[in-house]
Amino acid sequence: MRKPFIAGNWKMNVTDEEALQFVTQVTEKLPSSDKVEYALCAQAISLKGMKEKAVGTDLQIGAQNLHEEEKGAFTGEISAAALTSIGVKLAIIGHSERREMFNDTDERVNAKVKTALNHGITPILCVGELLEDRESGSADTVVKAQLEQALAGIESARAAEVVVAYEPVWAIGTGKSSTPEDAEAMCKTIREFLFDTYGPETANAIRIQYGGSVKPENIASYMAQDNIDGALVGGASIDVDSYLALIEETV
Ligand code: G3H
Repeated sequence: MRKPFIAGNWKMNVTDEEALQFVTQVTEKLPSSDKVEYALCAQAISLKGMKEKAVGTDLQIGAQNLHEEEKGAFTGEISAAALTSIGVKLAIIGHSERREMFNDTDERVNAKVKTALNHGITPILCVGELLEDRESGSADTVVKAQLEQALAGIESARAAEVVVAYEPVWAIGTGKSSTPEDAEAMCKTIREFLFDTYGPETANAIRIQYGGSVKPENIASYMAQDNIDGALVGGASIDVDSYLALIEETV
């Protein structure tokens, strides 16, 4: 039985002061994590403070990216070792915004997933098709190719630790969410790919999130699907009440 996992991705929208206030407010009201896991992925500058504020709670704090190399001359980047040194054990990898704007190629995404796993960091591996892929009927092929490349060389036991986030690019921040049925169809395709690659145990263990204009009003319809185990939420995770409602609707 896979435990649902709701992760907020704040992107570049929340200042450090706001982040710390948010954690203070939200930790007073979060339910127990027996039935649902929850996380907030923030800008790197806020991670240490947020971790400190979240001590003693089940709120997970995650990064939005990491660099694939261990260390070196990579000005402005963030290493896995720096994340684990402050207790961060979760990172979004290969978000479509990074793929599009920051040269996160499939090869780099693969290297980043490996680096994360090597450091005990759970990667939320993002995949998803463009609108033109969906319209041309190649969405399944595109997403399977992204998965194949992102997971290349990662054996079954380690792959089980990965969380996959299916985010159709056309649904991100647009208010145009995928229908629950279409999202389920792709998440089923993803599960079948994992089954073919890793066998039933790992395929059934890996959690698959849907992302793309998820909000409190529609999250239950996604969570009702067999192969959707959570959500990666941008805009609707930035408000305390909305974030809490997303989690409440999931339990
Ligand atoms: O990582 C989150 C996704 O990009 C979804 O963003 O909920 O604002 O559409 P959104």
